Amino acid sequence: MCGIIGYVGSREAMPLVLAGLERLEYRGYDSAGVATLEPNKKPEVHQAVGKVKDLVSHLNGRKLRGALGLGHTRWATHGRSTVANAHPHTDCLGRVALAHNGIVENFMELKEGLLAKGHAFTSETDSEVIAHVIEEEMAEDEDFEAAFSRMALRIRGANVVAAICEGDTDRILVLRLGNAGGIAVARKNGETMLASDLGALVSFSNEVTFLEDGEIVSVRSGAARFKDLKGATVVKEPHRMPRDWVSVGKGGYRHFMLKEIMEQPRTVAGVMQGRVNLHDGRVTLKRFPLTEPEVRELNRVVLVGSGTSYHAALLGRNLMDRFLRLPVDAESSSEFRYREPALDERSLMVSVGQSGETADTLSAMEWAKRQGARLVTICNVEGSQAARMAEGWLSMRAGPEIGVASTKTFLASMSLLALLSIQMSQASGSLPEGTRREILAQLIRLPDLLNGMLADHTPYKKLARRLYRYDHILYLGRGMNHPVALEGALKLKELSYIHAEGYAAGEMKHGPIALIDHKMPTVALAPRSGLYDKMMNSIKEVKARDGMVVALGAEGDDELASQADHVLYVPDVPELLTPFLTVVPLQLLAYYVAVERGCDVDQPRNLAKSVTVE
Ligand code: G6P
Repeated sequence: MCGIIGYVGSREAMPLVLAGLERLEYRGYDSAGVATLEPNKKPEVHQAVGKVKDLVSHLNGRKLRGALGLGHTRWATHGRSTVANAHPHTDCLGRVALAHNGIVENFMELKEGLLAKGHAFTSETDSEVIAHVIEEEMAEDEDFEAAFSRMALRIRGANVVAAICEGDTDRILVLRLGNAGGIAVARKNGETMLASDLGALVSFSNEVTFLEDGEIVSVRSGAARFKDLKGATVVKEPHRMPRDWVSVGKGGYRHFMLKEIMEQPRTVAGVMQGRVNLHDGRVTLKRFPLTEPEVRELNRVVLVGSGTSYHAALLGRNLMDRFLRLPVDAESSSEFRYREPALDERSLMVSVGQSGETADTLSAMEWAKRQGARLVTICNVEGSQAARMAEGWLSMRAGPEIGVASTKTFLASMSLLALLSIQMSQASGSLPEGTRREILAQLIRLPDLLNGMLADHTPYKKLARRLYRYDHILYLGRGMNHPVALEGALKLKELSYIHAEGYAAGEMKHGPIALIDHKMPTVALAPRSGLYDKMMNSIKEVKARDGMVVALGAEGDDELASQADHVLYVPDVPELLTPFLTVVPLQLLAYYVAVERGCDVDQPRNLAKSVTVE
């Protein structure tokens, strides 16, 4: 979602804030802004529509003065992407400037009250209301911190607010309410920085402290004082910055996404390292908190996630259905959280998420927790809210993922779900040792198989040149490859803005078949194992209606090649491994189609890396 950065210290703030904003840009990029503060002056605020580079060109070499600064990259919720709606927002007097992430749920009510009292608004955002609430509170009592704290009790919803005020050149106040994304604070030698994520702080310090729900931090040069909403001091220990974040670059690739796709063999190897024992067919995920008797007691498993992580959860259900004798559900977090299904202390929720900050997933987790269910998260970011909320954090160990569209964390999630299913089967006895050994022996082949597949991109580039002009593409898969069909379609629409639908091939006859003609190609996932014959039938049905078929199948499958218009190959492997492999050509295809169309691969329009609002 939106990214917030702040600096207070002895140096000029502006260059540090702009550099931090660039690192936060993947969180939101429809507009950006900065505010700096000098003694005896009001905050100087500049905003621009577009990316951080557009803000830099708007500044046109101008150097804003002040050793205190605030920056924001926006992902619009309330109000279109315009200069007026870009942050930082100010009050009527221009004394307070603030950056906001979240949604003020009672903003209409607050705004009406403020309008009636004569406040003038310059934007359509809910964020600006907060500045006016602070202004109103300051009219009662000049003290910025006291006014800010009273504002915290008046706004509702999940929100992060960072504010500065005229006359207070050594203070940034930051509030966090609910699951509106994290804020990390780092201090060193008389300087302090705060940021929505660690990537913006790496070059500054290797120790960070996190702001929690219901807390306010008063940030000064080299100091940070945390308190709760009642004003009581909260004492916190800093965390060491995870090493992964220390060097984040494109490593010679044109895009982060391509780099992250290429990292997948290493990612999968990293997931398995030290967790798999081939001799006794056992998996040890040390942070899985349930004892073996507790696993045997479980009555239900629920997997939740959003976007790509939801697709991983769907595959997880498939694996658990096969490996465990337990009812297993997988649901998108945004649906689950409002259904509020019955869970109890014998239920296990496994949340899946790259960021560990997705608001809907956190709410689903909160529901599970309130029901007394056991709670485990599969997540990539140490110190994220999901990692802190769950009893057990199973680390993806994938390293920072910067491309907005998830790739390597999909494979990491699926690999972890496979390991988790096996570990749980050890407790329940649902898989014999020999079968577990065989499955693990298959899984550890994945890094090599993936490496082989990633060596030559020519087939994907060629196919992308044929597909990039189409407006609609259908993706079909069955069984283990159904979640992959959904993921392939999601990648294509996210990156290239081509309308793509992922569908269970068996359902095609119940609707999508009506769409098929020469203008709508179908990508059919037909590896040789699993429901191969059924997929062949679907392919023939598409062909019979003049549809172009791009088949994804096993190397050496001549029968498939004779039926399809184009074929992409994956190694011929047992069914269990297929989803780990078939997703890769779909990622590359989406990538190269987007490149052909001149799209912004790493930061597709309207998307954000972590969706910290509902
Ligand atoms: C956004 C991103 C997706 C991601 C989803 C879930 O929509 O653009 O790439 O899959 O959020 O994020 P999470 O961090 O929970 O996996």
